[in-house]
Amino acid sequence: MTGSPSGRAGLFLSFEGIEGSGKSSQVARLARRLADAGHEVVATREPGGTPLGARLRSVLLEKDGAPIAPCVELLLYAADRAQHLSEVILPALRRGAAVLCDRYLDATVAYQGYGRGLGAATVLALHREPPLDLRPHRTLLLDLDPAIGLARARARNAAEGIDAAEGRFEGETLAFHRAVREGYLALAAAEPGRVRVVDAAGTEDEVEARIEAALRDLLAPIGELAP
Ligand code: TYD
Repeated sequence: MTGSPSGRAGLFLSFEGIEGSGKSSQVARLARRLADAGHEVVATREPGGTPLGARLRSVLLEKDGAPIAPCVELLLYAADRAQHLSEVILPALRRGAAVLCDRYLDATVAYQGYGRGLGAATVLALHREPPLDLRPHRTLLLDLDPAIGLARARARNAAEGIDAAEGRFEGETLAFHRAVREGYLALAAAEPGRVRVVDAAGTEDEVEARIEAALRDLLAPIGELAP
């Protein structure tokens, strides 16, 4: 794919938001759309986008797992990301693919920086050197009231029977998730060119249309989102 604003090959988009904001469905929808238009698409996620990452993911998200000190949690997310960049994201971008990533660096700023209270500066300091210095061309922040998002996430987990396995953050207080949302919104205010706030309330079709609008300048010139 050509036409990315930074001049790099490929296109790197990340999707962010609190639990239950609907990121995964929107990643799947856009991936299908871009693939139908003939592009190579790599839809991936953090944590867990590589075999090593899958092991880190179970350690990080285990609901009743051993306690993890906040600074260790931060380092494990960064380790997952460094492996993901080296093994999946950078090679895909070099091939010219569109990489759609369900959570990336901004999640670490929001959850570990704001939610855990480590501070955004500490998180960003870890992301200054390659490969961790890579930023997405655009980030879609699916913004939702945490009370609604958590209710959605808990209903989904119960339906899928994954409550017991991955609940470290779903079990956190509403205050924690409010801090996470505040972190995300602060990031969007600081980097309005890259991070676009998308209202995540409403139907999946409505949210998809908002995402299309937020990507139009990137995708329309190369024909992906023509009606
Ligand atoms: P995810 O599977 O995307 O959760 P959901 O589908 O419920 O939104 O992400 C798993 C959890 O990992 C999520 O609760 C947020 C957390 N997380 C961090 O705390 N820091 C990070 O850097 C990342 C990537 C995720």
